[in-house]
Amino acid sequence: MSASLFDVLRAYGTLQPPKGIEKPDVPFAAAHEFLLKHLLLNPHFDDYPPSRQYQIKFWKWAIEWLESLMSDEARGPLIRFCTPPDSLDERMYTHHVELMSEEAIAKGAGSAGPTPSYMTYLWPSGDSASVGRPVYPGCASATLLESRTITEGGTTGLRTWSASLILGQHMLSHPELVKGKRVLELGCGSGFLGVVTGSIHASADEPSLWLTDMNESVLQRCKVNMRLFCNQSHTHPDLNFELLDWSDALSPRKRPALETFFRRARPDLVLGADLAYDPSIIPPLVNILAAALQSGDGGPGPTAYIAVTVRNEETHSDFLRQAKQLLSVEDTHTFTVAENIFTRTAELGQDASQAIRLYKFGRKP
Ligand SMILES: C[S@@+](CC[C@H](N)C(=O)[O-])C[C@H]1O[C@@H](n2cnc3c(N)ncnc32)[C@H](O)[C@@H]1O
Repeated sequence: MSASLFDVLRAYGTLQPPKGIEKPDVPFAAAHEFLLKHLLLNPHFDDYPPSRQYQIKFWKWAIEWLESLMSDEARGPLIRFCTPPDSLDERMYTHHVELMSEEAIAKGAGSAGPTPSYMTYLWPSGDSASVGRPVYPGCASATLLESRTITEGGTTGLRTWSASLILGQHMLSHPELVKGKRVLELGCGSGFLGVVTGSIHASADEPSLWLTDMNESVLQRCKVNMRLFCNQSHTHPDLNFELLDWSDALSPRKRPALETFFRRARPDLVLGADLAYDPSIIPPLVNILAAALQSGDGGPGPTAYIAVTVRNEETHSDFLRQAKQLLSVEDTHTFTVAENIFTRTAELGQDASQAIRLYKFGRKP
């Protein structure tokens, strides 16, 4: 399928390196108007801009693209029938120059390396609610302040990982899994799945949403992201954040408090993405899942959807083997990183064909 102008907007929102952005086959006037209206003058990107370092590269790419369209059209056969294209809007050049001089000042002041950035993920609004001022007509969105490095401050939780994108996409395609359900996320990171869940909740009644992580600065970032005015989640009436360490499930001393917590949260649905990445965290992870799925009244109990990025086959099969000892397991789907609808940008160093497995867990019958 050929690229569209919307793909350029999606790439800009998720900081896709410009050299990988496919140029849509459109006339100068259409490309120029789109970039001006939906990117440069879009009030959303004024409030929640991509990082300056990214914008410098993007606007250089965009200006060169528009200039080449303009000169092609000025030379081409169209010139005989219609007026030659206008010049580029001055504001694009000004914006680019201003970014470069701000960056030079920042570098002079000693700041180096990729700075955190807002990321804006878009999807067709369909069943999920969209905010008052959509980033793009007909789309809902999740905007998050994220780290641009794999780890920051010793944690991997300050950026969104591909497994979250895949699980979020699955929930948007099956909103019935989330609507009317009390949801609890383990290892919530910076909040992508929380914002998506909040958007689905907002389209019907809004039961509780619990976001948990062991890392205080991660949970703090998640809180800030969930409450950004542009995210539907900011009006969620029953939003809860909890510091929760999975290893508590293995500690006889801490286990009673953990069980009390799960009785309070009473989740119907437990979510988790990119949690089984290290052999040492598999026993605590499997045991916290079992504890969460034991909560609630009798009946079938809660369900968990866990998205696993298969980086190491041994770690993955270890996770499955241990999970099968305590839980009922259904392998619902295998995706690749490239199959997500939000971005073409894979994680740093990640292969777009890398597998992400989605598992559904329940209590053992
Ligand atoms: C790779 S990140 C994934 C973040 C998010 N789920 C995503 O997919 O974007 C792993 C997350 O699990 C959290 N985590 C790791 N070990 C944990 C533990 N023992 N208890 C609770 N959270 C933990 C980390 O703090 C981090 O936020």
